Formats: sequence, structure tokens, C-alpha cells
Amino acid sequence: MRTLSSLSAVAAMSVAAVSIIAGAAAAQTYPTKPITIIVPFAAGGPSDALARIMGERMKAALGQSFVVENVTGAAGSIAVGRAVKAAPDGYTLSFGHLGTHVANGAIYALPYDMLTDLEPVTMLPSNPMVVVSRGTLPATNLKELLAWLKANPDKATAGTAGAGSGSHIAGVYLETLTGLRLQYVPYRGTAPALTDLVSGQIDIIVDQASNSMQQIRGGRIRAYAVTDSKRLPAAPDIPTAEEAGLPGFHMVLWNGLWVPKGTPREIIARLNAAAVEAMADPAVGKRLNDLGLEVPARDQQTPQALAVWHKAEVDKWWPIIRKAGIKPE
Ligand code: MLT
Repeated sequence: MRTLSSLSAVAAMSVAAVSIIAGAAAAQTYPTKPITIIVPFAAGGPSDALARIMGERMKAALGQSFVVENVTGAAGSIAVGRAVKAAPDGYTLSFGHLGTHVANGAIYALPYDMLTDLEPVTMLPSNPMVVVSRGTLPATNLKELLAWLKANPDKATAGTAGAGSGSHIAGVYLETLTGLRLQYVPYRGTAPALTDLVSGQIDIIVDQASNSMQQIRGGRIRAYAVTDSKRLPAAPDIPTAEEAGLPGFHMVLWNGLWVPKGTPREIIARLNAAAVEAMADPAVGKRLNDLGLEVPARDQQTPQALAVWHKAEVDKWWPIIRKAGIKPE
């Protein structure tokens, strides 16, 4: 006679078996409708731009269009919360980066666990930050800019995409390395921040290179240094922070793609393959490189590699962010 516990064990196994079979069956026909990428910042910014470039090419691989949904607020944590609660069916992707999927966990009281409530799909291209100012600011190199900022403590304004965003973390990093004090002006993304920089409403942004590249080339803003050990091939005349006199100012903003926990493995594999195909496409590579974005090495383009990287970044940054006392806006 079967005991109750053995019956419930059999029941549990059959539920698990059914969900595995259902997941495999769903993956056979996936995708049968457009796929949404939730982008945590305003349209026109670096996150939005990269998500659209990837979505356009992943459509060719999967045969369904990708729809970008810009969900802003609280430096991207609202967007990630929306993705966490989405159905785990492969039709909602969470786009994010160091700020939205790491820093926010040390700043905001989040109703989700960014390490366990999402499943990794792949690492996406990364780019260094670039220190840029309004064209009217009286400095012609990084040392002069730092001197001007130091001479205007609590007045000099730095645009960010909110407390915990990449542009904000980079600004705090600049403050800790130089003893500067910046007045942060939060926006719903660095696209609106850049508009205000071009019009001279704010003084600087420590921005993702991909976001400022066009305005730098157009001469409407001034670039002083890139936060990488090498110059950007897309902008070889911008010195590295070391060359410009601020050794150690090194920050590369990485991006990633996730899905809600419980998404079938087979569907994650289909999404990963489409993203890998997009990053291997020479036409996509040229667009990315023109923006200063670098595709991760192929062995870093697996779900496992993003899982390991994500955990390591949480372990690295949370103590730094807590020590810096970064608070929500
Ligand atoms: C940031 O972290 O600064 C964001 O990526 C800005 C954006 O994408 O708009």
C-alpha cells in the first residue's frame, strides 16, 4: 500500500515531468509572437540603443519582432521588477547592466532578488565611460576640468540616469578618486541628460561612450578622457584617464540579457543562440564598434558565464556602494 508521502512524491515528480515536457513542447514552437525587451531607461539612450540593435538582428534569427518597452524610474529597478513578474515563457526579456542588475540591489529595497529571480541569457557588448562637459565650460583638458570642478564645489552639476545608474556610479567613482563634490541631476536616462548637456543646462556627465559619441564627433560637447586602459578605436583622439592625468579611473560598463526565473532551458538556449548570432554578425559588429561598444569574447556569451559574472559583480560592488553611502533619490 503506498504511503501518503510516497504518493505525494510521485505526484511531485509527475508535475515536474509534465512541466519539463511542457517546456520542451513550448520551445519547439517558440517564438510564435513578438518578444518584448524591457529597457530600464528612456528611449534614445545607450541602453535603448543597444537593445534595439540586438533586437533588430535577433528578429532575423528567431523570425519574430522584438519590441522595446522603456520602463523608467528608480535607476531601472522598476523595469527589472516588471521583468521579474512577467510570465517565464520567453516573451519578456530584461535588458540591464552593472547599475540595474547589480548596484540597485545595494541601494533600493527591492521586492525581488536580482540573482535568483532572473535567469541569465547572455552577456552583451560593453563600453567604457567618457568624461564629457558642456561645450561652454572653460577647460581644455582633464586637469583643467578637475580644477574647475574643484573651484565650484556643490555647484558643478553632473547629469545621471538616477541613483545607482552607471552614470551615477561613475560620477561617485570620480568624486572618490579626486575629492570632488558634484551636484547630481537625475534624469530618466542619459539621453535627456545629454540634451541638457548640449544646451548647457548641466556641466558634465560621466557617460557611456556609446551615448556621447555622436555629440562628441559633432563638437557640441567636449570629451576629456575614457575610463579604459586603451583609447577607443571609434574616438582615438580622446585620451585614456591615465594619459589625461587621472590614473586608476577605470570603469567598463557591461550589459546583459535575462529572463524571468522558470523560463524553460530550451527557450533560453534559443534566445542565447539568436544573441550570439547577432554579436557575430559583421554588420552589427561595425555598428557597435562605431559606438565604442565591444562584443564580449565568445566564451563569455553563455548563460553560465553571465551567471558567474553577475554573482562576482554583486560580491564586488555591493560593499563599495554601501561604503559610499549611495542612497535612493
Ligand atoms: C546609465 O546607467 O547611465 C544608463 O545606462 C543610461 C541610459 O541607458 O539611459
